[in-house]
Amino acid sequence: MDKITEKVLFFLKKNPGYVSGEQMSHYLSISRSAIWKHIQELRDSGYTIEAIPHLGYRLLKLPDKLLPYELTHNLATKLMGKKVYYFETVTSTMDIAHNLAKQNEPEGTVVVAESQTKARGRLKRKWFCWRYKGIYFSFILRPQIHPNEAFIFNLLSSVAVVEAIKEITDIQTELKWPNDIILNGKKLAGILTEIEAEMEKVHFIIIGIGINVNNNSQQLIEPAISLYEYKKEIIDRLDLMRSLLIKIEEYYLLFKQKGAGFILDRWRMYTSTLGRMVKIIQDKRVLIGLAQDVDEEGNLLLRKETGLIERINAGDLFYCR
Ligand code: BTN
Repeated sequence: MDKITEKVLFFLKKNPGYVSGEQMSHYLSISRSAIWKHIQELRDSGYTIEAIPHLGYRLLKLPDKLLPYELTHNLATKLMGKKVYYFETVTSTMDIAHNLAKQNEPEGTVVVAESQTKARGRLKRKWFCWRYKGIYFSFILRPQIHPNEAFIFNLLSSVAVVEAIKEITDIQTELKWPNDIILNGKKLAGILTEIEAEMEKVHFIIIGIGINVNNNSQQLIEPAISLYEYKKEIIDRLDLMRSLLIKIEEYYLLFKQKGAGFILDRWRMYTSTLGRMVKIIQDKRVLIGLAQDVDEEGNLLLRKETGLIERINAGDLFYCR
């Protein structure tokens, strides 16, 4: 959206009644036919704007889209969302974010899509998208950390997701190690962290978040759930994503200043994994034990039957009972 279209939109939002083309043309110092052109642009992006002769224009409805302007206007962040790339459809926001990171786009750059044709989840699984129903985005971070520390970003992001959902919908979700967000025992959201690194140094991290927001039951694949299915109320995706961007930034800045301690404490508060008997399926083995705690890097500490504690950094986790 160009700057003048943004100003037209701003003016319409500020004046909830009718505003005449003349008022707007005076305010923006452009002709009335130019105003008309910008109104058309806004309509093309999905804004519903009424135009009545002698009365003027009136903004009736915002589009139900995660448009960059709506996402970032007056957003209280310094980093997250300073640059937003928006797509109706892409293969995967992860791929786009990787390419942008390689072209030196700054940290906090966000790639958001209404739908993805090749969305991926952990362990090369498919992630299911439904256009305009979910929140699907990836973002770039450039923390100065050792590759071993990157795992904590799963926990950081999942804590932010839980808190944003609570803030906007009042729904309390739970975390399942390593990075599933669970509601009513079903998967609501997932997080994927990919890193580009050398032996000792991370170049950048791409974190992808997918949340089932307004999907109805036909638009979900079992065992998945959406906020709408739980609450039977349409949730404002923009509000939720804006809150999420703020929370991610808060925790990221906290991590940079004080390390992972605070994030881990929050994660322990929200998880349903610790203290339970779990089964972990890895590539070539299955482990059973008590999920005792997570360490500073976010690895799971599993107390096995022998009493030995094993540090787990990957795998699929299932609750035994
Ligand atoms: C998982 O639970 O396995 C992680 C799912 C991550 C899905 C998101 S949607 C936005 C981003 N783009 C992708 O291709 N995947 C992530």
